[in-house]
Amino acid sequence: MDRHLLFERFHKIYASNKSSSFSFFAPGRVNLIGEHTDYTLGLVMPIAIQLGTVLIISKNNHGILRFTSLNVEEKTSVPANANYSDFRNAWYKYPLGIFQAFKNSGFDGQGFDMLYYGDLPTASGLSSSASIEMVTAVALNQLYQSEFDTIELVKMAQWSENNFVSLNCGIMDMFASGMGKAGYAIALNCSDLSFQYVEAEREGYHFVIGNSMKKRGLADSKYNERVSECGIALEILKKADSFSSLSEVSLENLDKYGHMIENDTIFRRTRHVVLENERVRRSIHYLGDGNMYEFGQLMNQSHQSLKLDYEVTGFELDTMVEKAQTCEGVLGSRMTGAGFGGCMISLLESNYIEPYIHSMTEHYFNKTGLQAEFYSVHTSDGASLKELL
Ligand code: GLA
Repeated sequence: MDRHLLFERFHKIYASNKSSSFSFFAPGRVNLIGEHTDYTLGLVMPIAIQLGTVLIISKNNHGILRFTSLNVEEKTSVPANANYSDFRNAWYKYPLGIFQAFKNSGFDGQGFDMLYYGDLPTASGLSSSASIEMVTAVALNQLYQSEFDTIELVKMAQWSENNFVSLNCGIMDMFASGMGKAGYAIALNCSDLSFQYVEAEREGYHFVIGNSMKKRGLADSKYNERVSECGIALEILKKADSFSSLSEVSLENLDKYGHMIENDTIFRRTRHVVLENERVRRSIHYLGDGNMYEFGQLMNQSHQSLKLDYEVTGFELDTMVEKAQTCEGVLGSRMTGAGFGGCMISLLESNYIEPYIHSMTEHYFNKTGLQAEFYSVHTSDGASLKELL
């Protein structure tokens, strides 16, 4: 939606507010490779995308946080000095968690009027929640003049997801939304947050997201199950060496100590993590060198591993990805995000986008009865101020 229309809506809804208003934008993300490796402090490689969340915000003098979302057509008020934990059951738990994080750092009491609008499909694995959190974090940083750097804001957003929203996610989504750079993917090491930008938009090639439109029903419980399976693997391997995270386990270590993991499921989860980290290491070189063919091969391998070893794909995503991998012009394809539904991503020669979308839509509908959606990816910069009115 056009930003000026949003400003108009804002002034209609909060007509009595005469303070300056600001608009901020935070992108969603799509992960190119390095899936289910962030919470074991491994390597990931997401890009920030053109879809995301816009926030129009202005201070008010009433000591009230007034939230409006154009997506859910809901308007709510929370006293700035309330106990925010009492308001955790609605969409505005995402911004409220950020208010809580600022409160923990000594910034609170101020009232704000806010209007949110997002164009990311929700519950599809493109990080709509992280983009709401990051857009709120950069806005409060500006309006409180708190001068946190972006990585500190990213950490506040992860704190909020883990402790306020209560999801055990890693740091990838917020990091991509905060630190994205147009034209580039971010190769991030989640153990120390060191990162490098890797050129990702190359002439003649496009990344295309496919939304399976399958709701990620069991995602949260299965996600937490994978987190704890990785914890079990780490406890076993710690008996062999002083590992402090599962992603410290190398291929060599896996060969040497893998037999200690007697449970086949736990062994396969470990193998996925170790090999996926290795694939990211190789991807940094291939994508960085513009070797799209080899990078595409790694995307395909990643999907197989997520299907067979990590078991987070499911019928719909497998149907989509396996068809995509046979389409003309496709160099690689895999599920992306948490899985169990949600989205996949393909790397294509640009000339083939139209026939690709056509045959994918038809095939997927015939197999599942679901109408898939496709979005061509444009990379974006991270969360920032856009305009002051
Ligand atoms: C979700 C989580 C991320 C990451 C991915 C899987 O998107 O929010 O932290 O774990 O799943 O790679």
